[in-house]
Amino acid sequence: MKLDIITIFPDYFAPLDVSLLGKARRNGLIEMNVHDLRLWTHDRHRTVDDTPYGGGPGMVMKPEPWGEALDALTPPAGPPSTGGDQAGGGGLGGVVPRLVVPTPSGRPFTQALAVEYAAEPWLIFACGRYEGIDSRVVEEARVRMRVDEVSLGDFVLAGGEVAVLVMVEAISRLVPGVLGNFDSVTDDSFAPGAMESLLEGPVYTKPPVWRDRAVPDVLLSGNHGAIARWRRDQALRRTVANRPELAARLDPGDLDKHDRQVLADAGFPVDGEHMAH
Ligand code: ADE
Repeated sequence: MKLDIITIFPDYFAPLDVSLLGKARRNGLIEMNVHDLRLWTHDRHRTVDDTPYGGGPGMVMKPEPWGEALDALTPPAGPPSTGGDQAGGGGLGGVVPRLVVPTPSGRPFTQALAVEYAAEPWLIFACGRYEGIDSRVVEEARVRMRVDEVSLGDFVLAGGEVAVLVMVEAISRLVPGVLGNFDSVTDDSFAPGAMESLLEGPVYTKPPVWRDRAVPDVLLSGNHGAIARWRRDQALRRTVANRPELAARLDPGDLDKHDRQVLADAGFPVDGEHMAH
């Protein structure tokens, strides 16, 4: 998988050399390139922003450097190339990249979207700053490639860099070979599948007693059925406590009698076909 990141603050991406991501890069599982947007400016001050049309506070990122940056990284429009990288460009044979633009006005970034991105051969991330990037950049890019404006949540960051770090980490750990143990991906909170809308429950390791606090007996019992049941109970309780809106989306058809009892005890009764909340 190839990742290109365009930013005015390349230093933000130093953490990509560390830990899991650093190893994936060194092993060649993921190719990541960070590009300074100012490379594609031509004035003495390397200007990337200007005042917004229509007035208002803040500055808007100018379209020209973004247009040139995307042109430089992607293959020229026209018939698919016959393979091999384009001279000067960062082309990947005939592959068209998917462009991801972090913005609080985007669609939500979810585990399902991370799974989708992890299957892409090539992603380009465009980190906006200030009040955002001139809208014509995304409009024009859509002619040549898929473009997603994506939000991390209902809060506003100072720029897209941290959002891209978050997304790159969430995506990379799903690329086969990046995590040692692929199982740890399948039972994540939000992993697509049966446990889709349940949060993961608590976890424990040695010692069995720490500061007078014992690990729940069931986890030491060796009884795999009882352990699975206990973990599901905990997941149900935690979901009700922390994310009641997720609990409300549980499919009553997926809930057995014990699940219903646990939910009722947690103050979240299931009434026949529908959740009571
Ligand atoms: N840039 C600024 N705020 C953001 C957010 N919440 N998600 C993604 N990108 C952002």
